[in-house]
Amino acid sequence: MKPESVDVAVFGLGYIGCVSAACLASLRLRVIGVDRDAHKVESVLGGHAPFYEPGLKELVRAAIDQDLLTATTSAEEGIRHADVAFICVGTPSERNGNLGLSQLRRVIEEIAQYVPSRKKPLVVAIRSTVFPGTCEEVVLPAFAGQSHVSVVSNPEFLREGAAVRDFMEPPLVVVGGNDGDAVKRVANLYAPLGVTPCLVSLRTAEMIKYACNAFHATKISFANEIGALSQRLGVDGQEVMKTLCADEKLNISTAYLKPGFAFGGSCLPKDLRALVYRASRMDLNLPLLESALPSNEQQLKRAIDAVLDLPAQRIGVIGLAFKEDTDDLRESPVVSMLEHLIGKGREVRVFDPHIRLDAIYGSNRNFILDSIPHIGRLLDNSLEETLRWAQHLVVVQKQDAVTGERIQGCGLPVLDLVGGSLRSSATEHMTSQTIA
Ligand SMILES: NC(=O)c1ccc[n+]([C@@H]2O[C@H](COP(=O)([O-])OP(=O)(O)OC[C@H]3O[C@@H](n4cnc5c(N)ncnc54)[C@H](O)[C@@H]3O)[C@@H](O)[C@H]2O)c1
Repeated sequence: MKPESVDVAVFGLGYIGCVSAACLASLRLRVIGVDRDAHKVESVLGGHAPFYEPGLKELVRAAIDQDLLTATTSAEEGIRHADVAFICVGTPSERNGNLGLSQLRRVIEEIAQYVPSRKKPLVVAIRSTVFPGTCEEVVLPAFAGQSHVSVVSNPEFLREGAAVRDFMEPPLVVVGGNDGDAVKRVANLYAPLGVTPCLVSLRTAEMIKYACNAFHATKISFANEIGALSQRLGVDGQEVMKTLCADEKLNISTAYLKPGFAFGGSCLPKDLRALVYRASRMDLNLPLLESALPSNEQQLKRAIDAVLDLPAQRIGVIGLAFKEDTDDLRESPVVSMLEHLIGKGREVRVFDPHIRLDAIYGSNRNFILDSIPHIGRLLDNSLEETLRWAQHLVVVQKQDAVTGERIQGCGLPVLDLVGGSLRSSATEHMTSQTIA
């Protein structure tokens, strides 16, 4: 079979680069691997993998035998015919935890030096893990004035020990960039794998890699802390987590995974407090679970600061309960927010379609009256009243489509603390705009 007409250069033949080079060659692309380490280059040229990774040596051997893969220590040779240059050099930790970019800077300088001697366009695809902003601040400036070079971010998600399988059956393919043609060009290389690539902005692509690794680390730590607590309580932690995972609606799902407002209500804060307290009585440290409530307080503080920063004096708050479609006010973060706003001298009016002071009773009524005794004077009976009075709106609950349109159509500026529940150019979303 004739190889694809795309020539790929892979800079760095370490775990990521060598696996990428061999796998791309197995997709019938012509690949040249570039590494400053002559031992790795010789190893690949001899048809051997430079390190152990299941399935890699067979792929390298086959690619060399079919003339689809070659290797060199020369950046100039590597870049000579390439349409796409994947950058897979190391980005090790510095002592302070910061990311070391010396390998990246050097390889980019080398490529930039040889680019003027080429005629055809080049897409530089950054596969190394780099902090958001690195492509814009480090890579793009190196190619300033070289209009036939485009830069995309194409982070790698494969795991050592299963790297070949992860490449061929990827959990996620992400390509980010400002040049749509370059993004599509790189995304198309993965077409034989049968996955739909996520095409995003340059910074989003860089950030996704960190978000994924942070999520995985958090999941592992969560399971381990639940396991440790279960063990102390004489409960089978494996059975607990297996059962937790059986819920694919709320637990193993997209639920609760959108940046938005702080959580509250009569269950989450109470149950987390009890869990953390009982663990501490057994001298069991559970730093992740202990940090959930303080983390929530910080999210509320950011929201309050965002509202206090609004230029308006009269703030109309849409929502009072801790979430939409309930009249439960217990531990609603909106109530704390109102206390702060009033304390700072802001004029506030509130509308919540499910809250009528004369209809709520018991602990629910006590909670709100203890927190804000004059809440009755702040509550509007209709959305229109709030819209007429306010200079700026703050949305703290998800809105249905009709109400959302009324809010956006009223002409007032809106701060959406829920994140993405309203879509309008006049709407600020705290998580993306108001708070940097
Ligand atoms: N290892 C993983 O499981 C994994 C998973 C996903 C992402 N990543 C990321 O991928 C990147 C590479 O990781 P790795 O584990 O393959 O690193 P590695 O240290 O194994 O390999 C890096 C290679 O780059 C080569 N190199 C350095 N400067 C060069 C230059 N100027 N020209 C050519 N080659 C050069 C080095 O000689 C080395 O062989 C890192 O940013 C890492 O965070 C790693």
